[in-house]
Amino acid sequence: STPVITVDGPSGAGKGTISHLLAEKLGWHFLDSGALYRVTGQACVIEGVSWEDHEAVTRIARHLDVSFTTADTGEILVAYKGRDVSRAIRTEEGGRGASTVAAIPAVRQALLARQREFLQPPGLVADGRDMGTVVFPDAPLKIFLTASAEERARRRFDQLLAKGESVSLPRLLEDIEERDARDSQRKVAPLLPAKDAVVIDSTATPVADVFAAVMREVAA
Ligand code: CDP
Repeated sequence: STPVITVDGPSGAGKGTISHLLAEKLGWHFLDSGALYRVTGQACVIEGVSWEDHEAVTRIARHLDVSFTTADTGEILVAYKGRDVSRAIRTEEGGRGASTVAAIPAVRQALLARQREFLQPPGLVADGRDMGTVVFPDAPLKIFLTASAEERARRRFDQLLAKGESVSLPRLLEDIEERDARDSQRKVAPLLPAKDAVVIDSTATPVADVFAAVMREVAA
């Protein structure tokens, strides 16, 4: 069967960077499951649906017209109903929308099959919160990437600054802690490492070293 490597962890732990590098290195497909939740949240904004209206949000998730394309620059473009939402979904507001709709069990159910469709030869690297626990429980290699909340807030701060978004560090830390709480306390698929996951703490470790550690697991 087609192999899959799952990379789970909290917001800002560096999953995106590491799983992109990994997919590229292996020449495998890449699933950014967070983007599906982000697009669902953004679709609600576009359609005038409240994130609290569980039935309406679920309907949107079930019929989500989303597409991923790779630009010449290598950047992954995300479109909803053919309209580019790549920027909009990456804002702090987009993150709040994603984690709010992600707490709705029927929404998670609706996106399950959608996520499994990404499993195509020669292989898949899947980035998210519940890739190893719920979506691909049989994955032969599961990575759980974490870092302290302060370090994750600092990284997010640098990212947003580079994009020209003005944000305050204390505000970001608050956001991250709020999101951690929501992600780990929800009843369905709470953020937890799979029993057979390799846990890597990247707080004091540069990306290159984290990637090397992951590659050692791949080779093992
Ligand atoms: O970049 P960051 O980790 O902050 O965000 P993301 O991976 O794009 O995920 C955004 C939000 O979607 C998270 O805070 C989760 O609440 C939710 N999510 C989820 O519930 N399950 C996933 N597999 C991926 C994301």
